[in-house]
Amino acid sequence: METLDFDLTILGSGIAGLTAAIHATNASKGNIKIAIITKLHAMRSHSVSAEGGISGVLYPDETNDSTELHAYDTIKGSDYLADQDAVELLVKNAPTEVRFFDHIGVSWNRDDKSHIQQRAFGGMSIPRTAFAADKTGFFMMRALYDEVSSMKNVSIFHEHFAYSLIVERKKFVGFSVIDLATGSSSLFKAKTAIIATGGASRLYNFTTTAHSTTGDGIALAYKAGLPLKDMEFVQFHPTALVPNGILITEAARGEGGYLLNSKGERFMEKYAKSKMELAPRDIVSRAIISEIKAGNGFKHEGSGLEYINLDLTHLGEKIINERLPMIKEIAQKSINLNPVKELLPVRPAAHFTMGGINTDIFGRVLADEEKDFVKGLWAIGECGCVSVHGSNRLGSNSLSQCSVWGRIAGNAVAKYLELDKSSNSTSNELLKSEERKILNLLEKKGNTNPYFIKSELQKTMDENLYVYRNREDMMRARRRIADLKEAFKDIYIQDKGKIFNTNLRDVLEIENLLELAEAVTACAINRRESRGAHSVIEHPRRDDVNWLKHTIIYKTGNGTGIAYAPVRITHWKPEPRVY
Ligand code: FUM
Repeated sequence: METLDFDLTILGSGIAGLTAAIHATNASKGNIKIAIITKLHAMRSHSVSAEGGISGVLYPDETNDSTELHAYDTIKGSDYLADQDAVELLVKNAPTEVRFFDHIGVSWNRDDKSHIQQRAFGGMSIPRTAFAADKTGFFMMRALYDEVSSMKNVSIFHEHFAYSLIVERKKFVGFSVIDLATGSSSLFKAKTAIIATGGASRLYNFTTTAHSTTGDGIALAYKAGLPLKDMEFVQFHPTALVPNGILITEAARGEGGYLLNSKGERFMEKYAKSKMELAPRDIVSRAIISEIKAGNGFKHEGSGLEYINLDLTHLGEKIINERLPMIKEIAQKSINLNPVKELLPVRPAAHFTMGGINTDIFGRVLADEEKDFVKGLWAIGECGCVSVHGSNRLGSNSLSQCSVWGRIAGNAVAKYLELDKSSNSTSNELLKSEERKILNLLEKKGNTNPYFIKSELQKTMDENLYVYRNREDMMRARRRIADLKEAFKDIYIQDKGKIFNTNLRDVLEIENLLELAEAVTACAINRRESRGAHSVIEHPRRDDVNWLKHTIIYKTGNGTGIAYAPVRITHWKPEPRVY
């Protein structure tokens, strides 16, 4: 197995990873050699699917907005589980990031004064979400990709899959990576790495996210013995199109869309009178499921999925064409409904991983609950839990998170490399055993179809760890996941070839999903309260006395180990969360 040497390896090529590459390059004046490793073509990273926008306080004098208010909304939205110092860092830096994207060519929607327009999003007191129609992520990615492509110190390794994270004596060493085009494995060795691989919503079948969102970076860290934080908190986006799960952006409600039950009622009045359809996502998702359970939903004939309706017809064609063109196209092309004239069937779908790799406020990966670091390793964006979202993220805070911590990590790496004069060495045994891992998989002669395991896993998560949870379901999920992990030992890979072996890639992803499903389920069973997106029938209330703390989970020899870390409170004392 060949070794490739870099100063910085970035795993993942979405908004967080590409932003980090730009800032590391600029801070080092182009003097560090960077590898971006991505299992897709970089422009197919899931960030391109981000629709509604990015949050940030841009014109405080004119709008009466403030970073304090943005922080308060975010912390209240998080059901007080966010680390408040991290939230303060987010809201302070978010405006700079929106302007940075303006400078590198994002075509923000603008008003008559040429100001960047901002729209309303759930849980935000004031419209503060900047947007480029409903294709914000695509435009941000295009601008970033253009920038990175012109940087001579950056090499992008498209369609390269990382299957091991190697950490020795709490120091980053490298990633074992298979080049999907040729099937050959290499060790990407570097003094520093930034993991930016996104979330794990493909733990579920009904999800708004791409098939690629299998949480690989989170799983690599977990398998390398590093702790994960708050994995029980899975965000369900209230409005995924039925039956395919494609995201209908929250901006549709931000622009004035209504949610209607089968009686034609705007039922959000019962659940969040002051915010209505623009309550935070956990509350809207629960309201939709409550309506469905009360018999006030509809049933989709083909899939059997129950849903409620999203009504945009009163917005008019002009607004829909100018500000929501993509969801119009999606609805027309995928289910033959025109939102200008017809109601859209929607229900909550897995959308975002609020937990992730345990990091400090600067995105440095922690080796324990809160103090000890892995030298040279950062985790940013959705895969890292810097803890700005707590138990419920507000929509549009993720793009600002990716950009803010992309810059922080990129700059920090440049500084680290100036000071670190040590060198990493690797043994031949390590290279041989890493190469062997792939050969062992290919040589397996089991009897179980890995795709059966994947679909059973997703079904288990859909059925047992959805918007409302209860102990019996969660325990059932735990047993089923244990059985599936056992069955995974007996899989076979039908394709033995080297060239673009997507069968092998899928198996590596399924292994990652199994690990993460076990972690999500263990954390969920453990937390005996309802907070944000974790809503447990037996424990219907938030319990700050016993549970105002982060869950930290480790992979142990025979399962999982759980510890806790305190929530950092700066100015905002937990209070009842009423909207
Ligand atoms: O609804 C949306 O456009 C999603 C935005 C987000 O998850 O931040």
